[in-house]
Amino acid sequence: MNKPENRLVLAPMQGLVDDVMRDLLTRIGGFDECVTEFVRITHTVHSRPTWLKYMPELQHGNRTRAGVAVTLQLLGSDADNMAANALEAVRHGADKIDLNFGCPAPTVNKHAGGAVLLQEPARIEAIVRTLRQRLPEQIALSAKMRLGYTDKTLALDCARAIEAGGAGSLTVHARTKTEGYEPPAHWDWLARVRAHVRIPLTANGDVFCLQDYIDIKEISGCHSVMLGRGAVMVPDLARQIAAYEAGRPPAPLSWAELMPWIRLFFELCCAKEANNKYPLARLKQWLGMMKKAYPEAAVLFDAIRTLKEPAAVAAILAA
Ligand SMILES: Cc1cc2nc3c(=O)[nH]c(=O)nc-3n(C[C@H](O)[C@H](O)[C@H](O)COP(=O)(O)O)c2cc1C
Repeated sequence: MNKPENRLVLAPMQGLVDDVMRDLLTRIGGFDECVTEFVRITHTVHSRPTWLKYMPELQHGNRTRAGVAVTLQLLGSDADNMAANALEAVRHGADKIDLNFGCPAPTVNKHAGGAVLLQEPARIEAIVRTLRQRLPEQIALSAKMRLGYTDKTLALDCARAIEAGGAGSLTVHARTKTEGYEPPAHWDWLARVRAHVRIPLTANGDVFCLQDYIDIKEISGCHSVMLGRGAVMVPDLARQIAAYEAGRPPAPLSWAELMPWIRLFFELCCAKEANNKYPLARLKQWLGMMKKAYPEAAVLFDAIRTLKEPAAVAAILAA
């Protein structure tokens, strides 16, 4: 049954939400769960360093430092090899596996992975079934899909296929692959999908503020919502939503209140990679996204844009 769980989930976002961003955003608060960036499964079985690269939380009980559960996402099309990889990840500690049926990347789609599978619900069902049958019963299996590849005619079939295959829950990003990230997300379609499956459905797509959250829940009828880009642009969006759900004022953080979090993020990035590129690239990427919500982020972005040394950036952040 669709259970009223009210879960707030941080979306998997390859190249954007790595373990450091998960750590930071879950410390700011509001999230009940995170999903890793997709781990692509081709013809090999990944070894421990690869699993730990995508999900260092495997060494910490599958939780971020703030204690929020992390799900490992796999992307592929070879059911047997996906199952072999899932079992290997479980051997290294994973306890929740999510399957990606929504990635629009041409390289991935060319190899029959991600959104291209939305044209073949039977194949989706077979993949989900194989993983459900081979994974131990206590390992949670979920899936994430878009509404289709070029159109939405198979959306309900794909959702049913995921349920029939044995997934315990489903997240739907309310767009087709062809629609990319173009607004609007079709929240009304989430209600249609919800009416066709009994497993819990998490609504996803274009939640950038508290009002979007209220609207997506009302239109979709879903109790759980996944936040993607909005959670990075407005780092306390999940906290505002959690406060709203608890009947408290959302109390958005001011830019001054966000600055300590930005400093912490940079410190965490520096601690993760000794080389100069990662911390700077990640900070610039984040400020670039925050610019849309905070004019101050644009000023800070310009101040650090040409810097190459982390020490110089740290000095500006401290000022
Ligand atoms: C940079 C980027 C990377 C993404 N990587 C993944 C991924 O690894 N796995 C996945 O299922 N979805 C991925 N997505 C899709 C998001 O999880 C989410 O479904 C989409 O961004 C819509 O939600 P939003 O409008 O709240 O951002 C990615 C999206 C973006 C923007």
